[in-house]
Amino acid sequence: MDTFKNLRGTFDLLPPQLIKWQNVERIIKQQLFRSSIKEIRTPIIELTDLFIRGIGEGTDVVNKEMYTFIDRGERSCTLRPEGTASVARAYINSGNLLGSPHKFWYMGPMFRYERPQAGRQRQFHQLGVEFLGYQSPRSDVEIISLAWDILQELGVSSLNLEINSLGDVKDRLEFQKSFVYWLKKNSQYLDDDSKLRIDKNPLRILDTKIPQTQEILQEAPKLIDFLSEDSIKRYDFIKTQLDDLKIPFKENPKLVRGLDYYTHTAFEITSDLLGTQATVCGGGRYDNLIEQMGGSKTPAIGFAMGLERLMLLVGKDCEVYRYTDIYIVNKGELAESLALEISRKLHRFDIITELDVSGSSFSKQFKKANKLRSKSIIVIGDDEASKREISIRLFEENNINNQEETISIDDNDKLERWINKNLNFKQIRGI
Ligand code: HAM
Repeated sequence: MDTFKNLRGTFDLLPPQLIKWQNVERIIKQQLFRSSIKEIRTPIIELTDLFIRGIGEGTDVVNKEMYTFIDRGERSCTLRPEGTASVARAYINSGNLLGSPHKFWYMGPMFRYERPQAGRQRQFHQLGVEFLGYQSPRSDVEIISLAWDILQELGVSSLNLEINSLGDVKDRLEFQKSFVYWLKKNSQYLDDDSKLRIDKNPLRILDTKIPQTQEILQEAPKLIDFLSEDSIKRYDFIKTQLDDLKIPFKENPKLVRGLDYYTHTAFEITSDLLGTQATVCGGGRYDNLIEQMGGSKTPAIGFAMGLERLMLLVGKDCEVYRYTDIYIVNKGELAESLALEISRKLHRFDIITELDVSGSSFSKQFKKANKLRSKSIIVIGDDEASKREISIRLFEENNINNQEETISIDDNDKLERWINKNLNFKQIRGI
């Protein structure tokens, strides 16, 4: 019989990989908690129109990459390709419940029908952070430094931060008019993909990877020349602050990002260690999105990090794992019942137990305990079990404290003393 395979571009995450994932997620959440950013969870499916209106009709994400289907109620639904539009919708829907301003984070799967390759999946995971109701350029600096600090906390090196300003809507429209005029005049020199973008999404032509197009674009009008005085002042302030905070960055006037909602600041963090899919974090300001989606005018800024790409970069520290504290070796009818009883009791001390339910010989069970690098071991045979007793000892052969002790399962004080002395764990709940 044919076996089932996972869909192309999707992956199972198995326990050995998840050690790293859980450590990374924990470190990220600690950093977010320290900055008083609150979690938000939005649905994975949304009405398709949300993304068309939010992300923009001319973008690759909306045009080519969405997982869209008609549900049984004849509604067009889409698996979320990103989180910003959903967070904006949730914020609008919540009415005054949340108040303004607000800082959110989310973590979870996103879906894009892209060509899978190293660092690019069809189901991938993002950490996203969105500051809603924040106008000051200081919030741009805070958000960029937060992304930077998370990566530092995770021990990621070889990072490049690139920033740009896209100006406000008026600046951009002025630029776009003159840019499109220039593109049309020079269209014979452009590659086919860029030609198609002239009417659909001309700004994306700026970050083309085709060398000939890049070269001819040197002659094109520059976005920076169309920024208003206010936009330039804002951009300068952010650059000065990043310098003061000693966060190294490079200006990239061609950085426009792939989603339509951005205004003013746009930024990306790439790593030299990632190959072609080098961007680990992307974000920027989106001052008009919430109003455009039917909410009140709410300036906002955010970023998202690709967790799969992050996993390729994080240091060895993130692979640290807490081994089993006590392996419970047991054999015989009575012993097996007692083993479960003691295992449950130990959990109240925040102890990680591994309860052997194999029924195999004592020596096989010892071997398994050794393989798991358990710190200590409890042994219960039917003799001990008939007296409601266990034998407990540290598992390392050369430890001088490695003396076996016999403890009655009902003697909580003695059990607690042994744990405190040998494993150094505090009881978390009364036994
Ligand atoms: P984005 O640049 O489309 O921005 O995605 C952010 C990050 O998600 C990328 O830098 C990358 O690390 C990861 N990513 C994107 N597509 C894939 C894929 N197919 N496979 C693996 N990783 C991927 C956004 O999504 C915006 N919502 C970010 C934002 C939040 N802007 C403001 N607030």
